[in-house]
Amino acid sequence: MRAALIEAPGSPAVAGDRPEPTRGEGEVLVAVSAAPIVPLDRLCASGTSYFGVPATPYVPGVQGVGLVLEGSAGLAKGTPVWFATSAGMQPGDGSMRAVAAVPEHDVVALAPGADPVLVAALGLSAVAAWMALTFRGGLAAGERVLVLGAGGVVGQAAVQLARSAGAGRIVAAARGERSRERALALGADVAVPLDDTDDVARLADRMGVDGPVDLVVDPLFGAPAAAALRVLRPHGRLVNLGSSAAETAPIDSSTLRSRSLRVLGYTNNELTPAQRGGALAHVVAEVLTGRLTVAHEPVPLVDVTGVWDRPGDRIVLVP
Ligand SMILES: NC(=O)c1ccc[n+]([C@@H]2O[C@H](COP(=O)([O-])OP(=O)(O)OC[C@H]3O[C@@H](n4cnc5c(N)ncnc54)[C@H](OP(=O)(O)O)[C@@H]3O)[C@@H](O)[C@H]2O)c1
Repeated sequence: MRAALIEAPGSPAVAGDRPEPTRGEGEVLVAVSAAPIVPLDRLCASGTSYFGVPATPYVPGVQGVGLVLEGSAGLAKGTPVWFATSAGMQPGDGSMRAVAAVPEHDVVALAPGADPVLVAALGLSAVAAWMALTFRGGLAAGERVLVLGAGGVVGQAAVQLARSAGAGRIVAAARGERSRERALALGADVAVPLDDTDDVARLADRMGVDGPVDLVVDPLFGAPAAAALRVLRPHGRLVNLGSSAAETAPIDSSTLRSRSLRVLGYTNNELTPAQRGGALAHVVAEVLTGRLTVAHEPVPLVDVTGVWDRPGDRIVLVP
């Protein structure tokens, strides 16, 4: 059976063979239609994640989309599903293969009709964007939102999901001009540059071009997060869900305390299966209405090595 393999920590995935899995107790067999390469896959495979060095070889892929091959009463053959795996975090194989055996509690039935490649591209990044905005960030209609890293998948999803949730002004901050243009096309009102600068005051001047904001969605941390705190209104919230820019941030106490700001962490790992399923249902519903998309590129699984570390639009492997 076709599969991508991490043969040694720190080396890119290669195309290979794996025995076809059989269904164990409490598992569902899924014919995989699409498996995205996400930052967590690369981090785990590098051997430098806080999950430790993974046992190799293993099939990477922490999420995927497919059709049930063999399931249970609730998951009949042919049901479109999204599924999660612990590949790279715990021993076991992930989504980047033709057929996956997945514990039933990690399988979510999807409404039919959505493009599996697009749903895979959005996946947990869109779930994180939606839950950071609502569940963690408490977005209320009319509130102003600042989305950092608006060129990434979390950022693109956050702009669109904030818009459809009734946000007021949306400011998108992104490094590349193409990312900023796309953010405007996706529904942002203003797009500001986020060059590789550690000058917090300069970044804050740019981010504040439209006035104070109520909520920041932050997949970056570092100087951009510190700057974003400076443009929050009193009692405003910043939800951090990643560290694509830096693991630490030069946050000053006076900014935090003078306006009683709230800095909140978020991880998908804390969601209950019901919360995760509900968020995915919302993501798919938004896809079906045409209000949610993301820049992505389908690539045959056999070509995994060439795209494993490629920056830019989300790569989705198609077995
Ligand atoms: N907490 C959770 O549950 C959760 C869930 C999903 C994702 N995440 C995390 O959220 C982050 C973003 O995920 P994603 O799926 O959106 O990844 P992605 O599509 O790879 O996007 C990463 C973004 O980070 C930006 N970036 C990278 N280095 C930067 C720097 N030095 N300064 C400013 N911007 C920088 C990139 O900008 P360019 O476009 O300009 O390169 C891009 O917009 C990752 O850290 C991921 O692990 C967390």
